[in-house]
Amino acid sequence: MATGRQILRNAPRPPEWRAERGRYQVTPDLQPLSPTQLVEWVAGVAHEIRNPLSAIGNCIEIIDKQLDLQGDSKELVAIALSECERLDRVLSNLLSFARCSEPLLQPVNVHELMERVLTTLRYDTRFPPTMNVVRDFRAPLQQVLWIDRDQISQVLWNLLINAIQAVPRDNAIKVTTCLEEDDWFCLSVQDKGVGMSPEVIQKVWQPFFTTKTSGTGLGLAMVQQMVRKHGGHVRLRSEEGQGTTVTICLPLRDNASIP
Ligand SMILES: Nc1ncnc2c1ncn2[C@@H]1O[C@H](COP(=O)(O)OP(=O)(O)OP(=O)(O)O)[C@@H](O)[C@H]1O
Ligand SMILES: [Mg+2]
Repeated sequence: MATGRQILRNAPRPPEWRAERGRYQVTPDLQPLSPTQLVEWVAGVAHEIRNPLSAIGNCIEIIDKQLDLQGDSKELVAIALSECERLDRVLSNLLSFARCSEPLLQPVNVHELMERVLTTLRYDTRFPPTMNVVRDFRAPLQQVLWIDRDQISQVLWNLLINAIQAVPRDNAIKVTTCLEEDDWFCLSVQDKGVGMSPEVIQKVWQPFFTTKTSGTGLGLAMVQQMVRKHGGHVRLRSEEGQGTTVTICLPLRDNASIP
């Protein structure tokens, strides 16, 4: 795979800037980037920013320990560190979104995969210990799907984090599975949280749309992109003040139809 530096080197050149009579002028050979080039370029830039950003975070942490700061200075350092972490989250989501490759299909016991994601979730700092996850698995427990394990784990993770962020700490979220029309395996994540207004519902699939102070707005865009690459679709039902259910439907394929 090309490194960020190579991508940048191969990307279409920006227009040449020439100093003329003390002013800068754009030469007329400016070529618009194709969507693929744009995505590669964005991924290259994100990759380039990531390493120095992590170095900056590490330096701040070391200086913080050495100086043993107090009061306002300590708070400023904490803000700088949390902003570094936020930027790092934005960049990794951006890279996952930009580089979403074709799924690597493998036979996976989907309920086992879900249990693994739910176990990891329990150790995430965003998961309140008082929260309950209710399982309603109606699809056969041994159901095997041809899916990309990492991508579908990421999809479920994004939906669960959204649900957790939408409900009070001592509330519950519900995870349901079922088969539909013998063709689809459907997985729903349901919360009885804040819900969405009709205006928000219209925008949630757009990359970078967020109503959260620390959100990147790439979670649901990624969900849709990955599920579509599996030949599936996503359904959303939400009402302000009532809650939200997001359902992903993945095709049930037999072994013969797998390339
Ligand atoms: N379960 C939910 N309940 C209420 N609103 C939701 C829910 N899931 C998503 N949303 C709304 O959709 C927006 C977009 O969600 P998305 O997951 O794409 O980004 P995000 O959660 O804001 O940021 P992140 O990139 O960290 O996931 C959210 O900001 C929120 O307004
Ligand atoms: Mg999200």
